[in-house]
Amino acid sequence: MERVSSKEKIAITVVGPEAPLADGMVDAFQAAELKIFGPTQKAAQLEISKNFSKAFMQRHNIPTADYATFSDPAEAHKYLDLKGAPIVIKADGLAAGKGVVVAMTIEQAHAAVDAMLVDKNMGSAGAKIVIEEFLQGEEVSFMVMVDGHHALPLATSQDHKRLLDGDQGPNTGGMGAYSPIRLVTPGHHAKIMREIINPVIRGMEQENTHYVGFLYAGLMISPNSEIRVLEFNCRMGDPETQPIMLRLRSDLLTHIEQALNGTLDKAEIEWDRRVSLGIIMAAQGYPSSPRKNDVIHGLDALKTQQKTDPDFYVFHSGTRMGGKDNKEIITAGGRVLCVTALGDNVKIAQQNAYKIADQIKFDDAQMRSDIGYRSIVNTP
Ligand code: AMP
Ligand code: GLY
Repeated sequence: MERVSSKEKIAITVVGPEAPLADGMVDAFQAAELKIFGPTQKAAQLEISKNFSKAFMQRHNIPTADYATFSDPAEAHKYLDLKGAPIVIKADGLAAGKGVVVAMTIEQAHAAVDAMLVDKNMGSAGAKIVIEEFLQGEEVSFMVMVDGHHALPLATSQDHKRLLDGDQGPNTGGMGAYSPIRLVTPGHHAKIMREIINPVIRGMEQENTHYVGFLYAGLMISPNSEIRVLEFNCRMGDPETQPIMLRLRSDLLTHIEQALNGTLDKAEIEWDRRVSLGIIMAAQGYPSSPRKNDVIHGLDALKTQQKTDPDFYVFHSGTRMGGKDNKEIITAGGRVLCVTALGDNVKIAQQNAYKIADQIKFDDAQMRSDIGYRSIVNTP
């Protein structure tokens, strides 16, 4: 990794996914004096280990669901019988979004414990589990950039994790998102910074770790406005980042440099005031076994349209060149594209994004037709 960075004359590396953070990529680059933006392996424990993350929140009074940690199945079953359902079972380690079971019945909860601790279906990631209180409310995503001491909040957003309309079907990595989310009022925003984000940074400092990088808090806002942390990610969220980036008017690289220089408190981040909404187009078979190599049609025409219309952007993720003469763009992963557009409100942004998405075709593409619906229902 280090050799590639020097040979290709890469000025700054920004780490996207969690696996290289867990493998110590930032530590290795820092040791080689290469500029890199992301948390060290130690700081990334906040995402890598649910048990670390929960204990850290408890040590620093950061509001989160009550929990207990187990590696002995008998103890875990006993605890479940004591607490009852609904209840949430989480594999301690990284499980690519598959390590959380929200058990609505006690039978499901016992089965999840056996699957992780006895059958070891999560491998070593599930050798330890966290069992936590079920929280009710609406989920929001809150991302910040951190320079070790200061946090620069990015725009708020909301993900849609289930595969099907109306939040039905299996959990996925995310089927769409929009930003900003009005549910996060200025009062909530201040409270999240005061009670969650700043205590994470101070807590890390107290524990001799400076957190540098993007920090993502997945939050639950209860009907009576209690805000608690569901999870931390040590990176930007996918697909929340795509709509957020379409709204960013200041220069991301400038902010990353400010973060590396410890001057994020001086940063002036600017946003398009409109709503941005992104729709995931996923491959057939996603999330369990996505099919690859389907040819994607319609992207060229949109590229031409883009020249005169900057209010949309098609972000690629699971794509690559292939097909006839290696000149076509084909599917290469579960979540293939994130079709993102701006609009004066959620409804208009939604219409604009679907108008673009409808021009893109690949066989058996899956996409939800209701991204943003929670805000639209709440807006007359
Ligand atoms: P996580 O990977 O921890 O974010 O969990 C994945 C999903 O499970 C979250 O986006 C929530 O929808 C759900 N979830 C996680 N923890 C809880 C909880 N304590 N109560 C209710 N739902 C939860
Ligand atoms: N959208 C949630 C995540 O990136 O983990």
